Amino acid sequence: MDRRKLMIQGVAALAVPSLPKGYVFGEKSLEISGAGSLRSHARHAHLLSGSAVRVDDLQSNSEYARLVSEQCDIVVAHNEMKWVALRPKRETFDFHWGDLLVQFARKNKMRMRGHTLAWHESVPEWIREDENRKNARELFVNHITTVCRHFAGHIHSWDVVNEAILPKDGEPGGMRKSFWYENVGTDYIDLAFRTAHSADPKAKLTYNDYGVEYENAEDAERRERVLELVQGMRQRGVPIHAVGIQSHIKAEKAGGFGKGLADYLASLQALGLEVYLTELDVNEDDIASNDVSIRDTEIAQVYADFLRVALGNPAVKAVLTWDITDRFTWLNNGPTHKKKQPERPQRALPFDRDFKPKQAFFAMRDSFDARHQKKTR
Ligand code: XIL
Repeated sequence: MDRRKLMIQGVAALAVPSLPKGYVFGEKSLEISGAGSLRSHARHAHLLSGSAVRVDDLQSNSEYARLVSEQCDIVVAHNEMKWVALRPKRETFDFHWGDLLVQFARKNKMRMRGHTLAWHESVPEWIREDENRKNARELFVNHITTVCRHFAGHIHSWDVVNEAILPKDGEPGGMRKSFWYENVGTDYIDLAFRTAHSADPKAKLTYNDYGVEYENAEDAERRERVLELVQGMRQRGVPIHAVGIQSHIKAEKAGGFGKGLADYLASLQALGLEVYLTELDVNEDDIASNDVSIRDTEIAQVYADFLRVALGNPAVKAVLTWDITDRFTWLNNGPTHKKKQPERPQRALPFDRDFKPKQAFFAMRDSFDARHQKKTR
């Protein structure tokens, strides 16, 4: 077993009550707020540390709001800035929840990401009606312009287009046959970026996708397609500034992280793009054991393994988990993510249901420190 593994797995007997079982702390600080927070360790490594949040959770749970404000330098809305949330009707824009998040971020001196202006899973029903579908291009441009103008000045980066690549759909360039692709036009990605840039010239415009993390053929293919896409955009002079790697990773998944991911990062860097890890979490449905400390140890190891490769490239500027506590992980929302363990809530995130740090928290913090040490050596 290598040293890195030992650090995470550790010896349960050494644990003190405030530390998660199984973690060797050595000289590590047990303080998890202030200088001990994820955001403080991330800053040393020239990273923004952040989380997705649901605004009603921030409002109804002050302990949660405090945790987010203490750990994060950047936040993003789970759903509140998607089409379905912002556009209940063709005529109306509902900015209520998005504006509350802007207020929360300002009050706590955090940055904010915008998510997302075009995603196949957030298409309001009304736009599918014949009359509107015919005008999809105009509605698309109008939506992006209005939304980007509205939030301009508050957005660090927009996920302009989310999950546009699905090679099995058989389209040129591996494009997904989404509502936007089929109704706005096959150039909808360029159009979205150009429109967003005119409406908010300061926001960093990001293409965000999943399924690019692992050393397997499917992920390798998506990496290639994304690279072709963003390279083409650069050549055409389309304003794109960053690529998001969603980072929904899994415990017990074969393949692991390595050269494929490292080369992908290097190619993005060579194109002059920044990279954000936008939705990090570890789906642990495949872990057979019900023992919490065994599960938490394995989950932390997956965080460490992934971040070791992902943070190896200086183009990576931000790490956001998809929420920060197991209490609010989307992985418990539906049966699709709990096929193997339908009765077992997922422990996918750095804090548990009661907002206590788990081994994954320390693995993240150590991974930030390792990048910092590499830089300063
Ligand atoms: C998820 C939200 O977390 C859930 O609350 C919602 O029910 C579905 O969407 N990739 C993305 C995110 O880009 O927008 C998704 O968020 C998770 C997968």
